[in-house]
Amino acid sequence: MNKNNKTAVFGGTGMLGSSIVRQLEKKGYDNILSPSRKNGFDLLVKKSVEEFFENEKPDNVYMVAGLVGGILANNTRQADFLYQNSMMILNVIEALKNFSPETKLLYTGSTCIYPRENPQPINENRFMTGPLEETNKGYAVAKGMGIIACQLYRQQYGINAIAAMPTNLYGPNDNYDLKNSHFIAAMVQKFVNAHRDGTELVFWGSGRPRREALFVDDCADACIYLMENYNKPEIVNIGTGYDHSIKEYIEIAQKVFEYTGEIKWDSSKPDGMYEKRTDISYLKSIMPDYKPRPFEEGLREVLKADFGVEV
Ligand SMILES: NC(=O)c1ccc[n+]([C@@H]2O[C@H](COP(=O)([O-])OP(=O)(O)OC[C@H]3O[C@@H](n4cnc5c(N)ncnc54)[C@H](OP(=O)(O)O)[C@@H]3O)[C@@H](O)[C@H]2O)c1
Repeated sequence: MNKNNKTAVFGGTGMLGSSIVRQLEKKGYDNILSPSRKNGFDLLVKKSVEEFFENEKPDNVYMVAGLVGGILANNTRQADFLYQNSMMILNVIEALKNFSPETKLLYTGSTCIYPRENPQPINENRFMTGPLEETNKGYAVAKGMGIIACQLYRQQYGINAIAAMPTNLYGPNDNYDLKNSHFIAAMVQKFVNAHRDGTELVFWGSGRPRREALFVDDCADACIYLMENYNKPEIVNIGTGYDHSIKEYIEIAQKVFEYTGEIKWDSSKPDGMYEKRTDISYLKSIMPDYKPRPFEEGLREVLKADFGVEV
């Protein structure tokens, strides 16, 4: 792919979008646009999206904007997650079709699109095969609709839209608001608080559920590779291929922080799904060198980048 191609990143102020911008710059891309709400580009406003495609006609678009949140935000704002995530991708793909049909689109869904019950690891064929987890149904339905939009606009209008399904991400520029964050960001923030001022460490549930966590730069590299090399309607998981229990993540953080204090568990809080691990064999068949970094390494990078903590 030509590095002078006009490349737009929607959601470039977010965790994944900012990582894609950093990785594109590292790879020598020199014509990157990153429009955002700060400068009047609102993906919920159809006109704003249409004007962008009409004026810019980018070669590639990474559509990684979205309303994103942890279990609490997802569960209490299901309608907002459904509406905003649906409208953003529909506005993008319809405007792209009308004003810039040669643009290639990479859309990020999420592994939340898969049914609540799955054989592990979860492969791409599980999409639309069973009932969804209730606590993030609004988000999951919207994300699934985005996938179908990519496939149908390809089928009917020949739009080159591809869709990637990242697993749980962590990394620089994450959201550390304890009320609204994902598990890893919340864990990092709690350890930083305990490290800095001795705040008590309390975690939800039993610690037994197993989760995947992918460093965001590894996800961004895979997204860029897919943009450069993949042109099919089938969705592609972007995960790590292995998982840890919540307790194991906490043990790694304890080691990194050299934390010897007590850890408490609030068993009144739910565990959520017991296990959710993605099958990344399809991604590996497309990108044989894909090798996400181990959690301990990623954790040290996040602490340095977002908290100035070198441990
Ligand atoms: N984080 C994860 O663990 C995870 C896992 C799987 C999939 N994903 C997917 O990966 C993508 C990126 O997630 P992330 O964690 O990087 O999210 P994030 O940090 O919350 O960033 C979201 C981005 O979307 C932008 N945005 C939201 N509403 C917008 C609107 N109306 N108009 C224009 N821009 C808008 C935000 O811009 P502002 O600065 O204006 O708010 C921000 O740049 C999303 O599609 C998400 O569903 C994330």
